[in-house]
Amino acid sequence: MMMRRGGIRLTNTMLVTAGTRFFSSTASSTTTRAVAKETLLGASAKGLGGQIGNPVWASRSYWIRSYPSIHGSVRNMSHVSVADEEQGKPVKSASATDSAVVSNKNEKGIVSYWGVPPSRITKEDGTEWKWNCFRPWETYKADLSIDLKKHHAPVTFMDKLAYWTVKSLRVPTDIFFQRRYGCRAMMLETVAAVPGMVGGMLLHCKSLRRFEHSGGWIKILLEEAENERMHLMTFMEVAKPKWYERALVFTVQGVFFNAYFLGYLLSPKFAHRMVGYLEEEAIHSYTEFLKELDKGNIENVPAPAIAIDYWQLPPDSTLRDVVMVVRADEAHHRDVNHFASDMHYQGRELREAPAPFGYH
Ligand SMILES: [Fe+2]
Ligand SMILES: [Fe+2]
Repeated sequence: MMMRRGGIRLTNTMLVTAGTRFFSSTASSTTTRAVAKETLLGASAKGLGGQIGNPVWASRSYWIRSYPSIHGSVRNMSHVSVADEEQGKPVKSASATDSAVVSNKNEKGIVSYWGVPPSRITKEDGTEWKWNCFRPWETYKADLSIDLKKHHAPVTFMDKLAYWTVKSLRVPTDIFFQRRYGCRAMMLETVAAVPGMVGGMLLHCKSLRRFEHSGGWIKILLEEAENERMHLMTFMEVAKPKWYERALVFTVQGVFFNAYFLGYLLSPKFAHRMVGYLEEEAIHSYTEFLKELDKGNIENVPAPAIAIDYWQLPPDSTLRDVVMVVRADEAHHRDVNHFASDMHYQGRELREAPAPFGYH
């Protein structure tokens, strides 16, 4: 009985903690604020050069830097400076003074003796580049002329398995989202950004184990993951996820990451083929999204600023323009993944063919 009560209490505590940490919007908004403030802090750091090496400043500045990004919102309040821990000083709890340090972040600089300069990047017109998550040299103009109708007809058993796995995943997706394409796109991008990261990571480890080059495929797959993540960063500007959608992402990611990891270990041929079909489905979803926009069922709002800079779009672009470039990206991912699977089918290793850099 005691054990049972203890178990229930523990479960309740875990649910409350997990709910606060992972499903609330606090953590993400805090991080966003922190990025903005860190930029400002970096800008004023030079003016505080005389303070460098001062242990108080070093300690406080690390606290500010680590405050939002490492820990969740609740745990932050009891967070202590790593510098203090490293120096073996007694650990202190956050106090009103600490809060004051946080609230005055805009006026203080991040001071560090590590010599890492704050990066200051400007656009071609001289105005400041405002995104820390990507840089001007990572932006590009999407190739909208790509053939959207290309399809790999499944022939082998493995192809058919990959094809029907993707098709069957579409059923619950259609039921859950129906015609809410903005939300659907945002949620699906949380899944689409996983395969590239898993594949890139596994190729990275393989390269280390075998003392051999990757042919550029590690970078290509990681870039695909980053590109998909940018799709997500864009769509979350137009569709705000609800708490239960965040919870769903949490669950799906836990399952999909591990399943794809195992799948890629067992058969990269199957894994890439499946992603190829997922991308074909993504093209279909974005085509439906465009139809809804054209019918007026979804408001064609101005394009988010992040999308305008990332895809080098004209300033007056709209959501429709964004969906067009995202769909073109998906078509490129489709080609790359079917190509990778074809190579495996021919008994070749990916590193034997140069990775398709700049193919987007
Ligand atoms: Fe995507
Ligand atoms: Fe994609």
